[in-house]
Amino acid sequence: MAKIIDGKYIAQQVRCEIKAETQALIAAGIRPGLAVIIVGEDSASKVYVRNKIKACAEVGFHSENYELPAETEQEELLSLIKKLNADPAIHGILVQLPLPRHLDENKVIAAIDPKKDVDAFHIQNVGKIMLGQYDFLPCTPAGVMKLLEYSGIDVAGKDCVVVGRSNIVGKPQAMLLLHANGTVQICHSKTKNLAEKTASADILIVAIGKAKFITGDMIKEGAVVIDVGMDRDENGKLCGDVDFDSCFDKASYLTPVPGGVGPMTITMLLRNTLSAAKLSMKQDIK
Ligand code: GUN
Repeated sequence: MAKIIDGKYIAQQVRCEIKAETQALIAAGIRPGLAVIIVGEDSASKVYVRNKIKACAEVGFHSENYELPAETEQEELLSLIKKLNADPAIHGILVQLPLPRHLDENKVIAAIDPKKDVDAFHIQNVGKIMLGQYDFLPCTPAGVMKLLEYSGIDVAGKDCVVVGRSNIVGKPQAMLLLHANGTVQICHSKTKNLAEKTASADILIVAIGKAKFITGDMIKEGAVVIDVGMDRDENGKLCGDVDFDSCFDKASYLTPVPGGVGPMTITMLLRNTLSAAKLSMKQDIK
């Protein structure tokens, strides 16, 4: 029987630490500020953004929410980012992805001041992560690492398999596991004998966006299984990329959906915004 990793509880603990640090920073004259930009009407993205704004209020941050219509021109979006880059009340800028197709995601991310890039998606921050010299880590992979740490799971020397190779989760996740001295394999849609590979994992992290894709027969006895998925099952019910029921008896640790990785992603966004505010203080002194 697997131990359930309670992401909601762990997120709450980390948010308490962030709240205390925020109060100290406010007393020193700086209130961390996050600007969130959403373009278009994607309902899932709107829920994510609403939760991010709510989490800011809970820990005492200033936040600004920009809801732009789907037909917003690229230049308009870039000029909003430029304005926020120059705004001393804003320490973090997040542009919710995906963007409508007529907008160039790479150009938009490149326009964000790397010091305010709390998603860690800017090319400069991605490069820094590769070298292990980062200011920010991408929120979801960092949240997964925090869940492992809190659960007392040591990554060093473990066989880690990441299923999914997105820029947001799979690729940076593999890098963070490598930094923690794991032996890492990345699997994706073209991988041969996927089940053989997933069954070799001591730590299996799944981020492919396919409901209940990983079943009990695809994991090793005693594996740690982390589910980054956020999908709907055949009845429209929220579920993950891992078939929880068939993995439950075989895994040693398992994250639920909802209540696993999800709450940690927002918590890491708060952590990054706090770090960005602290960094801005250091830059002021120089
Ligand atoms: N869309 C899905 N996940 C994320 C995320 O972590 N950050 C942003 N900006 N957009 C997303």
